[in-house]
Amino acid sequence: MVHQGVITAAYIVASILFILSLGGLSHQESARRGNLFGMIGMAIAIVATAFNDNIESYVYILIPMLVGGAVGAWRASRVQMTQMPELVALLHSFVGLAAVLVGFSSYLGSEGLFSGAEKVVHEVEIYLGILIGAVTFTGSVIAFGKLQGFITSRPIMLPGRHWVNLAGLLVCIWYGYEFLQADSISYGMIALMIMTAIALLFGIHMVVAIGGADMPVVISMLNSYSGWAAAATGFMLSNDLLIVTGALVGSSGAILSYIMCRAMNRKFISVIMGGFGGQSVSSAATDASQGTAVGISLDECGAALNNIDSLVIVPGYGMAVAHAQHAVYELTRRLREKGVNVRFAIHPVAGRMPGHMNVLLAEARVPYDIVLEMDEIQEDLPDTDMVMVIGANDIVNPSAIEDPEGPIAGMPVIEAWNAREVVVLKRSMASGYAGVENPLFFKPNTKMLFGDARDSIEGLIAHLM
Ligand code: TAP
Repeated sequence: MVHQGVITAAYIVASILFILSLGGLSHQESARRGNLFGMIGMAIAIVATAFNDNIESYVYILIPMLVGGAVGAWRASRVQMTQMPELVALLHSFVGLAAVLVGFSSYLGSEGLFSGAEKVVHEVEIYLGILIGAVTFTGSVIAFGKLQGFITSRPIMLPGRHWVNLAGLLVCIWYGYEFLQADSISYGMIALMIMTAIALLFGIHMVVAIGGADMPVVISMLNSYSGWAAAATGFMLSNDLLIVTGALVGSSGAILSYIMCRAMNRKFISVIMGGFGGQSVSSAATDASQGTAVGISLDECGAALNNIDSLVIVPGYGMAVAHAQHAVYELTRRLREKGVNVRFAIHPVAGRMPGHMNVLLAEARVPYDIVLEMDEIQEDLPDTDMVMVIGANDIVNPSAIEDPEGPIAGMPVIEAWNAREVVVLKRSMASGYAGVENPLFFKPNTKMLFGDARDSIEGLIAHLM
């Protein structure tokens, strides 16, 4: 039997490794190391937990661990970079479901174990853990459906939805009181189940009402909820490591939500209220005065590239879809060899997950020092010969600035149109994730290079002299 002190020491080491992991993940140069710390910390945590005195049989632990581990390894090794957000949303739902299940088993298994204040504290932990877990579970499943595309990304809003939510909250508070007063497990279970049903419905209701453009905030918000659900589970199981880990995930998710809100100029509360980014066409887009979009051929674009001194590349979700990052690196390398000042402008919500573009560019070994945040490069754009927009759309949409009534009004965007020339690489005139038309395509200095981004870039490389 391993001494409890050894297990506690292992938990402390794992907690430190998780903190180092988060610190490492905040910079591209140290991200790999951060990941490694996280993996070692998790391995230590699993092994230490397996030595817990309370474990009576390893069969019930090993079988699910092997099945879960095998399925996880199989899915993670096959997942496309473009499907990472869906995977992450699904994983959040598991954390929520686990909190619900642990909550129920913890209640059923604690009969007669606690009394007085201890009993109240334990039951509050159970009630809150199940509540947060249930909201996280269904909210994440709906977010998964929205990202996967089998649930519409438009906000679905019930009439009087705020009243419905308020009524749900009041019923949960009432049953929380009843739960604490319950003198039998069976009555306590009824209160718990009613609250769980309401929380499950609330999770669905909350996320279906959120429009496509707000999905980045929703993903990071659910990430935060999953952390709090894990922390609540830690309290129920008296597991300090789970409390620390849950609090780390919960608070880092909350900070990420704040960063996402700032990147989109949105207030967190209005995101939760829902309804943003549902319209498919902005008023500016339907305005006939926009003119027509002008196409450019590979030959013409290649010739233009041979005559520039500075280029800013704005990558977006389409670069990930086209797996164009390696071709983009090659184009960058060749142009830099010719003395062109090539830099990248990264929008915080480009792609479909936080840091999506940074991950792809790092994978293709694009040097970190030429990959800049939107705010770092915005004022250099008027002095830039060409901005090349590769599979990006919403993040370069001028209607965010020019159309105060439009659905994405106020969202900070990369002001590509300020450069001397803009080339947009995409396959069609289709709108981006937010479903909003893009007046950039009709600007006099914009040319459209139609086609798959990777094919276009490989074609352009062939035209470089
Ligand atoms: P989007 O606005 O979604 O635009 C991507 C564009 O890529 C599309 O217009 C598409 O046009 C083009 N495209 C797709 N496949 C392509 C291919 N193979 N080759 C060339 N082009 C291709 O992307 P964005 O500008 O990166 O903006 C991100 C959007 O996603 C924002 O609205 C953001 O709020 C949302 N979002 C972000 C996150 C996070 S956390 N980053 C999470 C969820 C949602 P064609 O079909 O015409 O080719």
